[in-house]
Amino acid sequence: MEIIITPDYEAMSEVSAAIISREIKRKHDLVLGLATGDTPVGTYQELAKLHKTEGLDFSKVMTFNLDEYLGLAPLHKNSYNYFMWENLFKMINISPHRVFVPQGNTGDPEEFSDWYEEQIRKAGGIDLQVLGIGRDGHIGFNEPGSSFASRTRVKGLYEQTIKDNARFFEREEDVPRFAITVGIGTILEAKKILLIANGKNKAGVCKEFIEGPVTSQITASALQLHSYVIVVLDEEAASKLERKEYYNWIRDNKHIVQKRIGR
Ligand code: PGA
Repeated sequence: MEIIITPDYEAMSEVSAAIISREIKRKHDLVLGLATGDTPVGTYQELAKLHKTEGLDFSKVMTFNLDEYLGLAPLHKNSYNYFMWENLFKMINISPHRVFVPQGNTGDPEEFSDWYEEQIRKAGGIDLQVLGIGRDGHIGFNEPGSSFASRTRVKGLYEQTIKDNARFFEREEDVPRFAITVGIGTILEAKKILLIANGKNKAGVCKEFIEGPVTSQITASALQLHSYVIVVLDEEAASKLERKEYYNWIRDNKHIVQKRIGR
């Protein structure tokens, strides 16, 4: 894992948008895995800015979102589909038929999940997967205990996730208890992975998934098994890391071996 520590949320968003933009320029028909939540909002704003000011072209890009609340229709204000259109898609030149978000109100979640996996396969797999992280260590809605071999499926939400996400709903009781999420196995098949995190409340879990043991109790720790992961943090989220100086030294000196690392 390459750990990039930035001063604040704005810098984290700029750095992560620059990484995504670089990949789109390298491959115009990039297959991009996308995340929702407060964390990537700034990154998406930066991408919209790059589209507007520099003409960053999304016309051939295909996207697959990680997850969706079970039971919510795509146009529901709390759906992740709605979130993506509001926070990114409506601001860029992406083709609606190249956008995939799990359908929360599907009549058959199991069949839908298989279909979603099939669409990812047909697209040639995810080139770059963008991830946030939950305070319980989840990536997507892969809550503690999720198998590292898991594929897209229905998952019950963990209590802490329900509490954390209640801020988007009128009442905590309104937060759906289940979601459709791609699996850890699906995520680990992405060619490259970019995880972003900010804020003091993510400091503990960032230390655990980066420097702790690989365990399904912190599903983000599965990323230690992947060969190409970039983690972009702000100072607060990085505040509990023990090897911070080492990560910073690598960031400042990697140009010496840049060709070999290829990042
Ligand atoms: P957040 O959510 O960006 O709103 O903190 C992250 C997540 O739960 O994956």
